[in-house]
Amino acid sequence: MIGATPLLEIRRIARGLHPTVRIFAKLEGFNPGGSVKDRPALKMIQEGIKAGRLAPGKTIIDSTSGNTGIALALIGRVLGYPVELVVPSNVSLERKRIIAALGARVTYSDPLEGSDGAIRLCGKILQEKAEKYFKPDQYFNPMNSQAHYETTSPEIYRQTEGEITHFIAGIGTGGTIMGTGRFLKEKNSRIRLIAVEPDDALHGLEGLKHMASSIVPGIYHEEKVDEKIPVSTENAYAMVYRLSQEEGILVGQSSGAAMHAALQVARQLRSGTLVTIFPDFGDKYLTTNLWVGWRERMAVGNLQFSI
Ligand SMILES: Cc1ncc(COP(=O)(O)O)c(C=O)c1O
Repeated sequence: MIGATPLLEIRRIARGLHPTVRIFAKLEGFNPGGSVKDRPALKMIQEGIKAGRLAPGKTIIDSTSGNTGIALALIGRVLGYPVELVVPSNVSLERKRIIAALGARVTYSDPLEGSDGAIRLCGKILQEKAEKYFKPDQYFNPMNSQAHYETTSPEIYRQTEGEITHFIAGIGTGGTIMGTGRFLKEKNSRIRLIAVEPDDALHGLEGLKHMASSIVPGIYHEEKVDEKIPVSTENAYAMVYRLSQEEGILVGQSSGAAMHAALQVARQLRSGTLVTIFPDFGDKYLTTNLWVGWRERMAVGNLQFSI
């Protein structure tokens, strides 16, 4: 059931654009674990088994900001491998509960150190008992982006009947943009790859990384993207509210950031078929700052709702 997600045209928010400019979003929330990360998690585990690095008796361990953890917990459960996850303690309550409900063990890292803190703590645990664990290592495992090269990207190419002109995606591990981008460039080198990142080291965009202030993932090669667009937390949140209220799609913060960037690109064009990724749905974030106090923030009028 992983993959084969729908591609939805965003029509209402795109009103006002040039009529031959269209924006589509791939709804990755439809994956069984609820996010885009099901794809790389499955691929990394399958390759681990194939290479003999993951075998009965071993435990799957990784550091994850949440969605990869849910995916690993789910796939580990189905295949019969225990899963241990290192997660910053400030990930949303819903994510923590989903991971626990799927039977994975969780170790919390310092929230102030973000996903880098989880990476470091996971490394320490591994050092102590390397033989016990299989670490998919999503930040350095080429199978992460390979999953997108083999599945996400061919799906998008087919769903747009080869007409895609721009691909816009947020960067966390970089797996989505690297793998999807590689396949698209092979099909048509004129397709533009646009990476979206938080505009600041301190941000509220769960799943995304501000590269300049982070440990840069080994699978992320910035020179392969044509453009990088920084998006503020406020603008991403404002777009999440627009998507729910105007399009009836409740998504997470990183989808808001991606859509904000897509719209920014679309406004400059006279024709084009833009595709972005909505990595997950929004029900996991209802107890986070995204939704707590949102009406007040909107009422103050500091959120831009017009295009
Ligand atoms: C909600 C969300 N958005 C975006 C991303 C970024 O995807 P990638 O790691 O493929 O760059 C992630 C990945 O962790 C995520 O969980």
